[in-house]
Amino acid sequence: MTRKLAVFNMKGGVGKSTTAYNLSVGLAKFHEKRVLLIDIDPQGNSGAALGVPIWELDTQLKHALQRQAPIEKACLTTSHNVDVVPSNILLAEEEIPISGFPGRELLLRKALDPVVDQYDFIIIDCPPNIGVFSINALMASDEVIIPVDMSYLGLLGIKAIERALTLVREALDHPVKIKGVLATRFDRRNNLSKEVLKSLREHFGSQMFSTIIPEAVKLREAPSHGQSIFDYDSNGAGAKAYRQLVEELIR
Ligand SMILES: Nc1ncnc2c1ncn2[C@@H]1O[C@H](COP(=O)(O)OP(=O)(O)OP(=O)(O)O)[C@@H](O)[C@H]1O
Ligand SMILES: [Mg+2]
Repeated sequence: MTRKLAVFNMKGGVGKSTTAYNLSVGLAKFHEKRVLLIDIDPQGNSGAALGVPIWELDTQLKHALQRQAPIEKACLTTSHNVDVVPSNILLAEEEIPISGFPGRELLLRKALDPVVDQYDFIIIDCPPNIGVFSINALMASDEVIIPVDMSYLGLLGIKAIERALTLVREALDHPVKIKGVLATRFDRRNNLSKEVLKSLREHFGSQMFSTIIPEAVKLREAPSHGQSIFDYDSNGAGAKAYRQLVEELIR
């Protein structure tokens, strides 16, 4: 069975893309999993982080969503053994037309149908909002990973995330599950990090991943080399944490 996971949080800069692409590479690298990474964020970050030249795409996710091309045509195999369906800002220009399509919430799920069986994991990197692209990601997924950064505003955003998931479950009748809430950008020298982590654990209990992603400069640098953290800084704290997340997800 293919596991389909959206990496979702409406707050920006919490580590969605960092998590989506490193997790994808880790699953392929350490467990030989067949992984498809879908970048449904017009910022194009997770594709770019894997070295995809996102400004030179003939076919990209927007063509598959608009049924102008099969998703295979937009799919690139990277040197990381991860297949990627990238996007760029041109996807943003299609948001209004796509929002008017009949069955607009199911465009990604339908586009993926013909290729789902070719993969063990499909990881979807969401944009920082709850527009038509995030809804498509949630409707195409069975599980969600919610990265939350260690800030007051990060904590405040939890209600909005829960509301969005309720909307998908109740109004759209799709039983998407929280696979785990992931504490990101944790700085142990900082009291706020500890307080936010404590509040998250009180609120989510066993829904929290045990893995904690530290604030690490190497995680920030790796994308500019088109590398995952496992290649860029294989012994560092960022690589250790994302490796642990891979193991937690596989278990
Ligand atoms: N644990 C971390 N330590 C240090 N830097 C990080 C960490 N996680 C992410 N970053 C950096 O912070 C920035 C935002 O991260 P990322 O792009 O993964 O967040 P995002 O949630 O996908 O953002 P957006 O909502 O804009 O899509 C990037 O420059 C990234 O390299
Ligand atoms: Mg992102």
